[in-house]
Amino acid sequence: MPKITFKDKQGSIIETVDVPADTSVMEAARFHSSKQYIPGIEAVCGGSAICGTCHVYVDDAWINKIEPVDENGPERTVLEYVEKYNETKSRCGCQVILHDEHDGIEVQIP
Ligand code: FES
Repeated sequence: MPKITFKDKQGSIIETVDVPADTSVMEAARFHSSKQYIPGIEAVCGGSAICGTCHVYVDDAWINKIEPVDENGPERTVLEYVEKYNETKSRCGCQVILHDEHDGIEVQIP
């Protein structure tokens, strides 16, 4: 059961959330937080990789441990249009699936 820590724009911890394996970062923020949801993760398209409102920065220590962006998929296109895009850290949270080996991952709201 991976744990994911969400940080705000300043880098302060918002919450650490336990989620079942195979949960996306977006689902962790929207459905597993003890708050109503993690602020800044709107997920307007519901996880279809077309809105970019689940944009997160994945911590440097974790970015190479998650499944990379599908260069031919919709996430790559969406990331080109998100505000505050960061070439090395930006991901659509709905496209990052957490498995047990991701226990301890940290993401930041851009
Ligand atoms: Fe819309 Fe992730 S929820 S792109």
